[in-house]
Amino acid sequence: MDKLIIKGCANLSGEISIKGSKNSALPIMVSALLSEDTLKLRNIPKLADIENMSKLLRNYGSIIKSKSDSIEINCKKIINKDADYDIVRKMRASILILGPLLSRFGKAKISLPGGCAIGTRPIDIHLDGLKKLGANFKVENGYVVGQVNNQLIGSHIKLSFPSVGATENIMMAAVKAKGKTIIENAAKEPEIIDLANCLNKMGANIKITKKGTINIIGVKKLHKANHNIMSDRIVAGTFIIAAVMLNKKFEVKDVDTKHIEALISALKNMGANIKLKKNSIKIMPTNELNGIKIQTSPHPGFPTDLQAQMMALMSLANGKSQIKENIFENRFMHVPELNRLGAKIRVKKDVAFISGSRNFKGAQVMASDLRASVSLVLAALCAEGESEINRVYHLDRGYEKIENTLGKLGPSIKREKN
Ligand code: EPZ
Repeated sequence: MDKLIIKGCANLSGEISIKGSKNSALPIMVSALLSEDTLKLRNIPKLADIENMSKLLRNYGSIIKSKSDSIEINCKKIINKDADYDIVRKMRASILILGPLLSRFGKAKISLPGGCAIGTRPIDIHLDGLKKLGANFKVENGYVVGQVNNQLIGSHIKLSFPSVGATENIMMAAVKAKGKTIIENAAKEPEIIDLANCLNKMGANIKITKKGTINIIGVKKLHKANHNIMSDRIVAGTFIIAAVMLNKKFEVKDVDTKHIEALISALKNMGANIKLKKNSIKIMPTNELNGIKIQTSPHPGFPTDLQAQMMALMSLANGKSQIKENIFENRFMHVPELNRLGAKIRVKKDVAFISGSRNFKGAQVMASDLRASVSLVLAALCAEGESEINRVYHLDRGYEKIENTLGKLGPSIKREKN
């Protein structure tokens, strides 16, 4: 397993241009299963999860050609088969093939994704919505087996929680269902809009109201389409927080600032000096940052995927801060590791209490999940001395070769084999 060696008191200068969003690319790649024509995608990030999704789709017979940041997926000749545990456990987004397979074949057998470091990650909201469209499910030997009598039928669905994955699964199942589907209390994340835009380019008929209700009229067939994946708002937010922590002049480009309004307002409340343009953010040094209270919530609230990074920043601010994590039941795995780096954070149920004015000191730490691991990188960049971050495969799932990306911007960061 690889580890990262990071020298502290890092410099950071210049700018970064943000690549495509992992959490938009994954469902959009799966949507190719709904069509027999080729789906051409641009701005695809080079990440382990994208590689795994390509492997999963090839497993069904998809023909996938990738060149630089583009990928062409053709699912004309695919065969239905089980999605086995080994693939699904490595990448929870595999569950997103359930809706498209039910739409295309009327049946699907997928290993239950199981939990992960941040929570049990159930799929009840996915299954409840797909049942409303006419699917039946049984769970046997750790697999969920879905069956549709003849065709999926449009329905009025109200999600019990605005689950991102469930919204995506149900939306993809509904685009060729018979009649109209309404999804109320759907997730409003920008990645949902990106998926709907791509499906509409493929010939679907999806309209999303201002309130976020998704209205779908089923169509018979989808056709070829080209689509540019939206930029990764979480990677953008991570680099913005890095620049504020290092107190350096830096610019984050090619990101829709509307997608990270909650982060921007939290940083401004702390006293960060940020200048916004439509598709870029300029961070300038500031005299001091003050602690604040935030809580994570579904979009447009503060994103849970930036919670760990924010916690690292709060350790450097003056005074106390608090973070309430409302989305996942176990998303504070980075706390003990940040404390090893010199933070002073205590957790009580779903609230983390962060003491400020801390100085990070280099240490050996362990990554536990994707976003926790990047919060350790941010702290290590600010620490006195050298840090070693183990189990870097977590990081590679969501950040393209971070040692090169950051290395080009000033920090001394190298990857070593354990
Ligand atoms: C997506 O996961 C993202 N992953 C996550 O990003 C992100 O943290 C999450 O949305 C929330 O924004 C991808 O897009 C691939 P949810 P997803 O369904 O769809 C509960 C990252 O770091 N729930 O909105 O799995 C669930 O347990 C990853 O890039 C049910 O109870 O998230 C959780 O507590 C991590 N039943 C909450 O809802 C269900 O059927 C939010 O989950 C589904 C979800």
